[in-house]
Amino acid sequence: MNLEVLTNADELAARAAEIILAQSRAVVSQRGNFTIALSGGATPKRLYELLSNPARKFYAQLPWSAIQFFWTDERHVGPENSDNNFHMTYEAMLGRVPVPKENVHRIPAEDANAAKVAGEYERILVEFFELSAGSAPRFDLILLGMGNDGHTASLFPGTEVLNERTRLVAAPWVEKLNGYRFTMTLPVLNNAATVVFLVCGEEKSGILKEVLEGPPDQYPAQAIKPATGQLTWLIDRAAASKLKS
Ligand code: 6PG
Repeated sequence: MNLEVLTNADELAARAAEIILAQSRAVVSQRGNFTIALSGGATPKRLYELLSNPARKFYAQLPWSAIQFFWTDERHVGPENSDNNFHMTYEAMLGRVPVPKENVHRIPAEDANAAKVAGEYERILVEFFELSAGSAPRFDLILLGMGNDGHTASLFPGTEVLNERTRLVAAPWVEKLNGYRFTMTLPVLNNAATVVFLVCGEEKSGILKEVLEGPPDQYPAQAIKPATGQLTWLIDRAAASKLKS
């Protein structure tokens, strides 16, 4: 596990952007495409705005047309709703960069039937990655955030979906949100070549300490352990303020 402490949220976004640039260029030159699963939330929004800023190098240097975009999780609202993660990503990045629309694989969260949405996204993954039964996709890069309760993607503490070993995508009912979420499951998240957590702000310092230095198996974020991949935590100084070293 790598842990990098950056000065502030801008530096953290810049470091994440460098990782995406280096990895996407390397993988595209070998294999022709690069698969990434994006998270929602405020922290990645800054990163997406940086990547799509024409005044910064990422806009010109990223192999946009060879990047295939997926989402780790989604809220149960359609793409026109500002709470929708695809909506946020589109506004902050995808609507401003030369990405062909067939490279954008959003979660079809507008359907009222939550189980159907999860099944449909699983089908999209199986088809794109040409998966055989029982296998999980191997994303080149998965970006994750962490909530104050230790959730990541839409894997919330105490939800059954944490035990899911077969399905690739699930629609957990999240009691405290009084609604469904859609999320890639642990077999998918832990099969990635690289997982990068982005965690910013003083309000995350307590939970970050518990997740990184406390007893194991208490929070969903601790269940992220890529089996044969690299795990990196990018955190800012404020979020790191309670860590021992
Ligand atoms: C979402 C997420 C979620 C997020 C964390 C952290 O849809 O909200 O994908 O898991 O990453 O809640 O969010 P912040 O970056 O806003 O703190």
